[in-house]
Amino acid sequence: MNKLFKISAFIGMMSLPLLPKAQQSVSISSPDNAIVLKTSVSANGNFQYSVSYKKTAFIEPSTLGFSLSRPKANLTQFSLASVDSSMVDETWQPVWGEVSHIRNHYKALTLTLKHKTGILLKIAFRVFNEGIGFRYEFPKQEHLNHFVVANELTQFNLAGDYKAFWIPGDYDTNEYLYNTTKLSEVNAVAAAAKEPDIALKSVIGANFIQTPLMLKTNNGLYINIHEAALINYPAMNLELDKKSFTLTSHLVPDAVGNKAYLQTPFQTPWRTINVSDKATDILASKLILNLNEPSKFTDVSWIKPQKFIGMWWEMHVGKATWEKAGGKHGANTANVKTYIDFAAQHGFDGVLAEGWNEGWEDWFGNWKENVFDFITPYPDYNLNELTTYAKAKGVRIIMHHETSGSATNYERWMDKAYRYMNDHNMNTVKTGYVGKIIPRGEHHDSQWMVNHYQRVAEKAAEYKIMVEAHEPVHPTGLHRTYPNWLANEAARGNEFNNAPKLGLVPEHETILPFTRLMGGPMDYTPGFFHFQLNQYDATRTTRVKTTLAKQLALYVTMYSPLQMAGDFPENFNKHLDAFQFIKDVPVDWEDTKVLEAEPGDYITIARKDKIKPNWFLGAITDENGRSTQLPLDFLEEGATYQATIYRDADKADWQTNPVAYSIEKMTVTNKNKLNLRLAKGGGCAVSFIKQ
Ligand code: NOJ
Ligand code: CA
Repeated sequence: MNKLFKISAFIGMMSLPLLPKAQQSVSISSPDNAIVLKTSVSANGNFQYSVSYKKTAFIEPSTLGFSLSRPKANLTQFSLASVDSSMVDETWQPVWGEVSHIRNHYKALTLTLKHKTGILLKIAFRVFNEGIGFRYEFPKQEHLNHFVVANELTQFNLAGDYKAFWIPGDYDTNEYLYNTTKLSEVNAVAAAAKEPDIALKSVIGANFIQTPLMLKTNNGLYINIHEAALINYPAMNLELDKKSFTLTSHLVPDAVGNKAYLQTPFQTPWRTINVSDKATDILASKLILNLNEPSKFTDVSWIKPQKFIGMWWEMHVGKATWEKAGGKHGANTANVKTYIDFAAQHGFDGVLAEGWNEGWEDWFGNWKENVFDFITPYPDYNLNELTTYAKAKGVRIIMHHETSGSATNYERWMDKAYRYMNDHNMNTVKTGYVGKIIPRGEHHDSQWMVNHYQRVAEKAAEYKIMVEAHEPVHPTGLHRTYPNWLANEAARGNEFNNAPKLGLVPEHETILPFTRLMGGPMDYTPGFFHFQLNQYDATRTTRVKTTLAKQLALYVTMYSPLQMAGDFPENFNKHLDAFQFIKDVPVDWEDTKVLEAEPGDYITIARKDKIKPNWFLGAITDENGRSTQLPLDFLEEGATYQATIYRDADKADWQTNPVAYSIEKMTVTNKNKLNLRLAKGGGCAVSFIKQ
């Protein structure tokens, strides 16, 4: 049941004419008073905000504003025209998620600023117990109609040389490994140079980094900077001034160097700052979701969280090919039937089949516009036969639309392609944007492409189709508004273990929830059971840097409503006892408890199934082994559970003994404590089935 209290105007609306100077400084605190946001207009007209947490200032006075190229204007100096404030406390229910109910509780402050040209600009702040969000609002007005943004001038003036978990600023990719350094030690150009496996990079410069940016102060304050509700606007990178530790927004440009083409009324995405003295609070935060608009769809009955397997990893490890030419074509009718059989036998919802359609012989690297038509299967892939076969077994085939970056071509085909999916009983599509974007000169993260990803989600919804995108812009919580947009890649996924140079490192999954996942679920593709990737190609030296138990734990620590079991049946069949956890783990949750977390080191999360009264726990660590004792007080009082513990065997180690695991069963209640020992690069997964 939703309840909404809107307590309005505790400062009240003060209207034009301009306020006297004495009133040009306004403060607001979070509902629990821990966070205090101060705003002021300085003598020279600069608008500034600063933020403190439990009396510690961590964002010092930071200016806001814009430079426009049409009309030419520098919107940096203002007079404060009016102030409005309100408070909201409501609870809403996501269609799917980590929890079944989300509280949206904040105090709001909206300031109307007037520029000397007469242009009016509002700045709307929302202060939650867990952080703040603010955005610019350009109201419909006499002095501004159409306008072009040259630069957004938002500053985050940090109070010190914080430890940062960062990836290089880039217009086209977010698939970098995370770097952990002091801000003063950031060198994005050098970091990007170590990454030859990323096919397309558009690095901005040495001092540019991406959001979500995770920071930690010397005094143990955790800060996360990102954005919410990225609509009709380019993605934000951050330019770092290493002397003052000021971060300034840097928007992704279009083909001619402009940032955004807008018309009043317009609201920018929210700029978000999470803050807490507990790392677990950062992971539990729903601030970004709360800043997004509610679902656009009233009928959401067709949207279903799901687990799938894929005729996919065999191409990555060289067992098969996407293209038909060459004789190792993976997506042939007989092979995909074996996947459907395995999916049906083990209760999976879907089977992804990549390389099913004509075009893979010539799909990449030529900036070619018309590669795929999304409706023509290779002759050895009998989709009608497979549709009937899958349907009879209660499985759906998951569609694959690799666009090879040609968004224009995809837009021309979308209707036909989605109708074709409807005709073949498919309701989920994995899209992909490998390579340089067409329209030529656009970037993966520019305004045109941000609008494209949204159009895909909207168009797919017309056909009751769920979407997950690979190589898209970083997510910003839009899955609240478009709940059919289940997941995205938008970061370095598990598949990068196969990259020859840097691959992955064991700490990667302890950083991702603090960075990429702040914006929404990731199609990380956990569930690799075979680690030396030379199974089918003896020349390969790549390996998955994990233990097997950790691969299981990722189903809990890396939240997504769309979870793949990444490896192929042949490898799962060797460890069906461990595979049982992947079969059992849900993808939609009633409740989530982040029990322990430290970015770069470890994460332990427990989640309760949305349907049954069962709990599931995942604990992971980085390259260091770890022992921990967990009180099971999250379990229901008075209930008894059968716990099945999938743990690293005593001698497990990601480097020397990665497969070794042990499975133990015990009866527990919420009075018990669980002793966990994680191997180097290891993890532990536990199911608690209520008796
Ligand atoms: C890159 C994607 O991330 C991967 O999952 C996919 O298999 C290939 N592109 C081919 O589309
Ligand atoms: Ca570490």
